[in-house]
Amino acid sequence: MSNTNNNIESVLVENRVFPPDARALQGARISGMPAYEALCAEAAADFEGFWARQAKEHVVWTQPFTRTLDESNAPFYQWFDDGELNVSANCLDKHMGTPVEHKTAIVFEADDGTVTKISYRDLLGRVSQFANVLKAEGIQKGDRVVIYMPMTIEGVIAMQACARIGATHSVVFGGFSAKALQERIIDAGAVAVITANYQLRGGKELPLKAIVDEGIALGGCESIKTVLVYERTLSDWKRVEGRDKSFTEALDALEGQSHECAPVPVGAEHPLFILYTSGSTGKPKGVQHASGGYLLWAKLTMDWTFDLRPDDVFWCTADIGWITGHTYVAYGPLAAGATQVIFEGIPTFPHAGRFWQMIEQHKVSIFYTAPTAIRSLIKAAESDEKVHPKNWDLSSLRILGSVGEPINPEAWMWYHRNIGHEKCPIVDTFWQTETGGHVITPLPGATPLVPGSCTLPLPGIMAAIVDETGKDLPHGAGGMLVIKRPWPSMIRTIWNDPERFKKSYFPEEMGGTIYLAGDGAVRSEDRGYFRITGRIDDVLNVSGHRLGTMEIESALVAKTDLVAEAAVVGRPDDVTGEAVCAFVVLKRGRPTSDEEARKIAAELRSWVAKEIGPIAKPKDIRFGENLPKTRSGKIMRRLLRSIAKGEAITQDTSTLENPAILEQLGQAY
Ligand code: WTA
Repeated sequence: MSNTNNNIESVLVENRVFPPDARALQGARISGMPAYEALCAEAAADFEGFWARQAKEHVVWTQPFTRTLDESNAPFYQWFDDGELNVSANCLDKHMGTPVEHKTAIVFEADDGTVTKISYRDLLGRVSQFANVLKAEGIQKGDRVVIYMPMTIEGVIAMQACARIGATHSVVFGGFSAKALQERIIDAGAVAVITANYQLRGGKELPLKAIVDEGIALGGCESIKTVLVYERTLSDWKRVEGRDKSFTEALDALEGQSHECAPVPVGAEHPLFILYTSGSTGKPKGVQHASGGYLLWAKLTMDWTFDLRPDDVFWCTADIGWITGHTYVAYGPLAAGATQVIFEGIPTFPHAGRFWQMIEQHKVSIFYTAPTAIRSLIKAAESDEKVHPKNWDLSSLRILGSVGEPINPEAWMWYHRNIGHEKCPIVDTFWQTETGGHVITPLPGATPLVPGSCTLPLPGIMAAIVDETGKDLPHGAGGMLVIKRPWPSMIRTIWNDPERFKKSYFPEEMGGTIYLAGDGAVRSEDRGYFRITGRIDDVLNVSGHRLGTMEIESALVAKTDLVAEAAVVGRPDDVTGEAVCAFVVLKRGRPTSDEEARKIAAELRSWVAKEIGPIAKPKDIRFGENLPKTRSGKIMRRLLRSIAKGEAITQDTSTLENPAILEQLGQAY
C-alpha cells in the first residue's frame, strides 16, 4: 500500500478518542477541559494581563517589568522589555535553599552505559566555574559563542555558562559539516567555539575538534579568538597554539580564584541564543530568541504540557543541537527543577531495546521523543523479539510525548499500547524552532486525545487556519496555519536579516502582523482539533530534522566538475517521515551503465555529507539529460514529486521538450 493511501485511510478511521483517565486527571495542574477553557478565556479577555501574571509567577526577575507587550514596531514584538533577569539563575540559583538544591539535576548515560549523576548544587558550581573560564577568555555580554558539542553534561554546562554571563550561544548540531559550521560562525560573528575532541556514538569515536579546525580553515572566521576543547575521550587532538585550550587547562588557570560567578542580569529582550534552521532559500536562517519570554515558555510548558511533578524523571531524547534540545534539555527541565536523563548515544546501540532498557533503569516517568525513533524501533521490535519493549518494565512511565513531525496514527497506537500500556497520555506537541516551545498540544490531564492530532492550542496561543489572504477557513477545510497574536517565546528576528524575518513569517497579504508557520493544517469538524498536514514551503522534514530543498540543491550544484543542474524534492518514507530525492543533470551526460550511475550517486552523497552533513544525503538520486520544465523555464516540481513517489503521472506533460526524460528519471540510485 502506498503512503498516500495510508494517510487517507488513517484520516478516515480517526474517530478513536482517548479521554484522560482518572490517573492523569488527578492532581493535574490543568485538570479537565473546563480548567483549560478557563485559561483560554482569561487570555482572550485580558491578553496582556494573562501573560503578565504568568511571567510574574514563573520567572525570577532581578528588575520587575512594567510593560508586558510592546507592539509599536510589529512584527518586531517585545515582551516584558523593561524587566531584567538571568536565565541561568532561573535554572540553577533559584533552587538553592529549596528541596531541589540537593536533588539530581542530570542523570547522564554515556554511549557505553556508564552513568553519572549531578545535583543542582554541583551543576551550579560547574556552570559558574565554566562561566569564569569564558570571562577569563575575554568573552563578554552580547558576544556570540558557537557550541559544537556532543550530548553530555558539559554541553548543557556550556550553554548555561553563556547564559550566565549574557553571551549569546549558537549551538551547531554535531552532525553538521565543517562548511556548515563555518557559515554559521561567520554569520553569527562568533568570538569563540566550544567543542569536544571527539564524540562517542554507537561505539564509534567521531572527530569534532578536527572539524572545527577544518571549518575555520575554510576562511572568514577571523572573529574566533578561542577554541575550548572538552576532552571527552583520551585520544589526542591537534592544537593551534594561542587559540586552543582544553577545559582542564582553562580551569587550572583559574586555580586559587573564587568558584562563584554572579549571574549577569540582562534585559528581557537580550538575545539568549541564535539557532540556525532551514528555510526556503539556500541559506539557513539564524533564528534569534530573547531571554525573558523564552525562559517563561520553557518553564511554563514543562508545567502545562508535561504536568511536571517533583518526583518525575524526565527524558527528552533530542540533541542539544536542535530547538527541542534547547527548550526541553538545556533550559526547561532545569527551570522547572526536574531530574532529567541525558543520553549520549543512539537508540539502536548496542541493541534497539536501549531506550526501553534506559526507561526501566532510570525509572523514567515522562518520555519525549520523535516519531522517527518510534517508527524505527517498531520495525526493530517486529523483527527481533529480544528488543521488543515487553522485555522491560516500563511501569514508571506516566506521560509520553512526540515531537518534530506528524505522528501517523499507526505509530501513535503502537506507542500508546506497547510503551504507555494504554495508561499514559501522549502529548503530540506541535511547534517549531521559531515558536521557542510547544504551541499546539494536548494537556495530559485535560485533552481527550485523537491519534495523529496535536489537538488544541495552548492558552493564549491564537492559532487559526486561513487562506492566502488571511481569511479564516471553516473547520474541515485545509489551509495555512497562522498564529494571530504574538506570544512570549516567539522568534524575535533573523540574525543579520530583519527583512527576511518580515518576509518569511509576516506576509504583507495577511496584513504583516500575523505569524505564518509554514505548515498546512486542517481542523476536525467535530472538535476543532488541529492536524498538521505538512510544510507548505520548500522545507523537508527527514527524521524530524529540518532541511531546505534549496540548501541541498546548492550543495549539489557546488560540485562543479560533475553537476550541471539539480532539483531536490521530498517523498514519503515509512521510517524517516520524508526522504530526500535528488534529480541531477550531469555535465558529462547521463551515466551509461548502472555501475557508473551507482558510483556517481555515491560520490554525490558523500559530497552532500561534506557540504551540509550526513543527514542531508539524498536517499534517491535520479539522472536525466535535463529536468522537466515549464515553457517559462520553471522546474516542474510537482511532476518531480510524483516521480519521486513512484506515482502515475497525471500532470500535463505536453509542454515537455524532451518527454524521454520521464523514463530516464524513473530509475533511482
Ligand atoms: C514539523 C521542531 C506535525 C512541522 C520542534 C514544523 C510537526 C517543523 C510537529 C518544525 C507535530 C513539529 N506534528 N508536525 N507535533 N512538530 N512538526 O523547527 O512541519 O525543527 O514546521 O522544530 O516540524 O521543525 P523544527
